[in-house]
Amino acid sequence: MLVLESLLADFNQELQSTHRIADLLNLKAKFIGKQGPLADVMKNLKDATPEEKRTIGVRANELKQAIETLVGQKMQELEIQEMNAALASTKIDISLTDSVLEKGLQAAGYHPVTIVQQEIEDIFISMGFEVLDGPHIEDEYHNFEALNIPATHPARDMQDTFWFADKKHLLRTHTSTIQIRGMKERKPPFRFVGPGKVFRCERTDASHEMVFHQLEGMMVGENVSVGNLIYFMKTLLSEIFKRDVEVRLRPGFFPFVEPGFELDIKCLICAGKGCSVCKQVGWVELLPCGLVHPNVLRAGGIDPEKHSGFAFGLGLDRLVMMKYAIDDIRFLHAGDLRFNSQFKSF
Ligand code: PHE
Repeated sequence: MLVLESLLADFNQELQSTHRIADLLNLKAKFIGKQGPLADVMKNLKDATPEEKRTIGVRANELKQAIETLVGQKMQELEIQEMNAALASTKIDISLTDSVLEKGLQAAGYHPVTIVQQEIEDIFISMGFEVLDGPHIEDEYHNFEALNIPATHPARDMQDTFWFADKKHLLRTHTSTIQIRGMKERKPPFRFVGPGKVFRCERTDASHEMVFHQLEGMMVGENVSVGNLIYFMKTLLSEIFKRDVEVRLRPGFFPFVEPGFELDIKCLICAGKGCSVCKQVGWVELLPCGLVHPNVLRAGGIDPEKHSGFAFGLGLDRLVMMKYAIDDIRFLHAGDLRFNSQFKSF
């Protein structure tokens, strides 16, 4: 009996200094496991008197239960402690944003080209246009051939192309590639716009960049005419600039339209007086456009006898420059936060 009574005291003492779940499990095994003192006592009972069997047996069971209860309580305690320790070490510091801002880093915002692109997409969506995407890496067919620019055509030189080493693939020089893909996937009537980056191997200056942005537009149906084209272009410009802008239409040559036009706007940087952006002429080429050439309609699987269409290729960067009075296109790609942070943030 003495052994039994001191057992609980011994257990309690060791329990006090147990702080890890693994140690607690060992302690439990040590006292009430198969090799432990209680198991020994039970084994020896077979030689005891019936009276001893009863008292010792009952007491041994009581002790076993008491130890199990104590282990259970301690286990709960340790589990909570370990969970709290794990939480503390992996905790997310939600005050980080503030402290980052205090150190002078700025929250992100939209690039002005993105802002204007989204604005124009919304204007066209409200006029029933879809918004399409197309790949930056194109083949000769989509960038030239299907657009009525055969290999021998001098117009290929109009666009200085970044070719891949295989001489078959290129970085698209205009978003007109989206016309071909868009037509093939639809039946007239349809109307869509296709914004995106375009690439030209050009010397850069205040109004030229190697990477810039266009927004292609196309509408095909029965009797689509120059009248429709002018209506949509005028609506677009008055929505964007929220004021009257002076425009002029000149004949323009693009192999994929006939007739083709250049829609210019009076330079908003210098009010037509002449500056580096308008190359001193007072007008800025903004919107080349025209009626889709029959060959292009055919390449898109459309019968030019039944349907006609217009297309335009809006220069997004120029538009951004006009809208925000930015006098050098190179600001748009410089990644200078002093420049970028002047526009709307999220
Ligand atoms: N793709 C032509 C360019 O980048 C622009 C354009 C588009 C002209 C659609 C007419 C019609 O130069």
